[in-house]
Parts: sequence; C-alpha cells; structure tokens
Amino acid sequence: MKQERSIRVPAGIRCATAVAHPNIALVKYWGKRLAATNTPETASLSITLDTLTTTTTVAEKSGSDRIVVNGEAVRDAKIEQFLHLLRQNFAIPPLLIETSNNFPTASGLASSASGMAALVTAIDGAMDLGLSLEERSRWARRGSASAARSVTGGFTALAASNGWAAEPLLAPGEWPLNVVIAVTSRERKTVGSTEGMELSRRTSPFYGSWIESNARDFEAALEVVARRDFSALGAIAEASCLRMHAVMLTTDPPLVYWNAGTLEGIRRVRALREAGVGVFFTIDAGPQIKAVCLPGDADKVRVALAEMPGVQDIHVVGLGPGAACVSS
Ligand code: PMV
Repeated sequence: MKQERSIRVPAGIRCATAVAHPNIALVKYWGKRLAATNTPETASLSITLDTLTTTTTVAEKSGSDRIVVNGEAVRDAKIEQFLHLLRQNFAIPPLLIETSNNFPTASGLASSASGMAALVTAIDGAMDLGLSLEERSRWARRGSASAARSVTGGFTALAASNGWAAEPLLAPGEWPLNVVIAVTSRERKTVGSTEGMELSRRTSPFYGSWIESNARDFEAALEVVARRDFSALGAIAEASCLRMHAVMLTTDPPLVYWNAGTLEGIRRVRALREAGVGVFFTIDAGPQIKAVCLPGDADKVRVALAEMPGVQDIHVVGLGPGAACVSS
C-alpha cells in the first residue's frame, strides 16, 4: 500500500515511511536484566493491535537531526539516544524524523512500542540497512523493550530463548480477538517505565516472586495460545497484570498507575464475565483499561465500559500486523 507523506521530499533524497501499531502484553514484562542492552528480566507475550497507529517518515537531510512529534519539533532523549546507538553500528546521515500517533502519547497505550518499531522500520527502509525481522525487533528492543513485539503482528512472544527478538506465534487472523480500550485519563504518566522498573527492582519486596511467577505464566500462556483457550488465557493474563501492579504498588516510592476509572473497569469486566461474556482485562503503566474479548461480545463490553463515569474515549480494535514500510 502506498501512502501520502505529509512532508515533501525532493527526488533523490533517501526517505521511507513506516506504520506500526501498539501491542498489549498479556504476560507482562516489568524489570530489566541488563539496562545497557535493554534486555528484559522477564519474558512476555503480547497481541499487536490494528487501527491505533504510529506513522513515521524518515528522510536524510543536511546539518543535524530534526525530530517532529505530532507536528511539533521536539528534543526527544529516547529517540536521540537510539539514533546515537544505531550510528555506532551503521552509517546513518543526519535525519528528519516526523512521527505522529492517532492516539494519546505516553499514557499507557504503548506509544513507545509502536513509535520505536515504526522508527527502526523506517530507518531500515530509507537507508537500505537490509535488516531481517529478528534484527529489526532486536534494534527496536534497544529503544524500548516492548517495541520488539510491535515489529510482528498478532500474538508474539519475547523471550531469552529467541535471543530477545520477537517470535510470531499466531498471525492476526489465526485467532481474531477484539480489545476494547477505555481511556480513563489523557494525562502523560509521571514515572516512565524504565525509571519505574529500576525502582521496583531495587525496592519491591515482591520483585523476586514476580520473576518466578512470570516464568510459569509465560510457559502456560504459550500452551493456551496454541490451543486458543480464551478463558485459560484470560486467567493467566489477569493474574500476570495484577502481580505486575502488586510489584508497582510495593515499590518505594509507590507506583500507582490506576485511577478510579481503572478500578471501576476491573469491576465491570468481572461482572460481564459472570454474566457469560467472553472478556478479561489487562492494564499497563497507565490508568487505561484494556478489555480483551471474543469478537461477538465486543459491543456489550464497549457499552459497559463507555458508560463508566470519567471515560474520555473508547477504542474498539482488532489484532493487527507488524511494523512495515508503506512507502520508500
Ligand atoms: O518497553 P517499555 O519500557 O515501554 O515497558 C513496557 C512495560 C509494560 O507495558 C507495563 C508491560 C509490557 O510488557 O508491555
């Protein structure tokens, strides 16, 4: 699919546009084994979404890098560090990077995952780096660990067994599910995940048991995804989410990412399930409720969550593809 670029690039200038989607972990990652290479302490298993989109255009330019996020020229330490790292390995000229999200940035909707996946894919396309899917995933991981998983679509595993590169488990169409996302706040989070993880590793008394339980959850999740057992996956995902938040809450100072809407969302998802609806919840480092459901039940879930007091926005999404160049 060819797509219009919002920036005009003279002929002969190396340039590419990539699109990537956020992913949501059902078995969570929280904690780094090796900060220098952004290697996770725990394996994770995720689903990549469709309609929420990061679009990133990269073009060579003269002078120095220019980064434009959602239409505003910015200094972005994460992107700058990532470019520095790439340039230690590849000859990359100064770049114009223009990136935009069609959903709120840095509020627990995984914008860093889709952002880094789109960036590495666009740079690979523009500069003809010739990276394989696994290499793109490893580079995306260096920018943001969860980004490794947005390089692939559908169900994805990220584990030491594949050298911490994403491993596709099921394509989006192989087990179509919906995710209803209730945005309960549009504010940017106050403690970012890298800083929060390091605080948790140093101070949470639950950190050790979190690492142990994650290994069991990951193995069990691989097995239930292979046999597409929705209720077993839901039980594992909710337990993994709540254990991760238990680690966050017992961090010093405490990391409380929830708000009143988050708790009300949990209550409603449980009530729906008791009424026979195929749904489970998950929550990341932000207050948004993500309700994973069987496609036939998406409308009931959307209505129940949209009626909650304080809900700012509702997205109903499906499972989507991995990061890809749409023009170069
Ligand atoms: O990769 P980061 O730094 O965006 O951290 C992601 C952490 C969680 O979203 C909370 C969990 C996960 O596995 O995605």
